[in-house]
Amino acid sequence: MNTEERINSEEIYPESPENRTGYEINPGGLTGEKKRSRRKRVFIILTVLLLLTVGELIRSNNYIQAEEFTFFSNDLPKSFDGFRIVQVSDIHNRSIGGLVDKIRDQKPDIIVITGDVADAIRTDTDRADELLIAVSEVAPCYLVWGNHDMDISGEERTKMRECCVRHGIRVLENSFVSLEKGGESILIAGTDSDPDSRKFTSMMESFPKGEEFVIWLHHYPEDFERIIESSESAGSRADLVFAGHAHGGLIRPPFIGGLYAPGQGIFPKYTSGQYNEGESTMFVSRGVGNSGYTLRFLDTFHLVVCELKSGKM
Ligand SMILES: [Fe+2]
Repeated sequence: MNTEERINSEEIYPESPENRTGYEINPGGLTGEKKRSRRKRVFIILTVLLLLTVGELIRSNNYIQAEEFTFFSNDLPKSFDGFRIVQVSDIHNRSIGGLVDKIRDQKPDIIVITGDVADAIRTDTDRADELLIAVSEVAPCYLVWGNHDMDISGEERTKMRECCVRHGIRVLENSFVSLEKGGESILIAGTDSDPDSRKFTSMMESFPKGEEFVIWLHHYPEDFERIIESSESAGSRADLVFAGHAHGGLIRPPFIGGLYAPGQGIFPKYTSGQYNEGESTMFVSRGVGNSGYTLRFLDTFHLVVCELKSGKM
């Protein structure tokens, strides 16, 4: 290489091994090692992230959280002090291992089932029936239908209703019942998922006026304000509402909460836990099943366990 060629070479390939001297010769080995090390670090990080994601998917779609609440009310009859309610919602024709034992562990006085027992995609309701029978053996049950229960065929829904009747599960379809204890009573009302019924008009026509303590079961949490208005215009009050449907918002990043719920859209207001509005309180369960083939993330299954207390907190 003559002088002129060497100058050209240095201009074009300033870092080429030919242009280096002494210990700088053949640095390609070190660069390759650095690249391999970087690739290894990226591989380890991606593997850890993948394992964490898979682990969280398994946890979210199998673990059931039993979240405990205490609800105080001056209007609650003294006989119901310490009365325990377990809410089971959005079963979606699934049977999760340990669910019935977990419900039993909460020692419920009653169990309220707030809709979507069936699933519009997995429409054979045999598994749902099995679960209803098992749950009915734990404590008296009260049930309302959800949108998926309305989406299956009339025959399947009739089969589920007959299963409920056979096993003493009270199906509330725009109706209410009185629950008595120690000579006192509270009211349990239930509204179904028929779009017309969501106006509650048919039930409100015969709804008792007065100060009776009312527990209201309804599938859709986004109807909370409408429930309050309807009960107040009928001269009553929905003291305690139980709802489901939102599935916790499907993905629940910490400090943000649920990202999406049908009927409420993105960043939904009502997805999990307790909500107070005026003198009414609503509990929303994240449910114990997934709709169709959807999965949830950072959003475990959920039982609401509510203990009633007579008096002020
Ligand atoms: Fe649901």
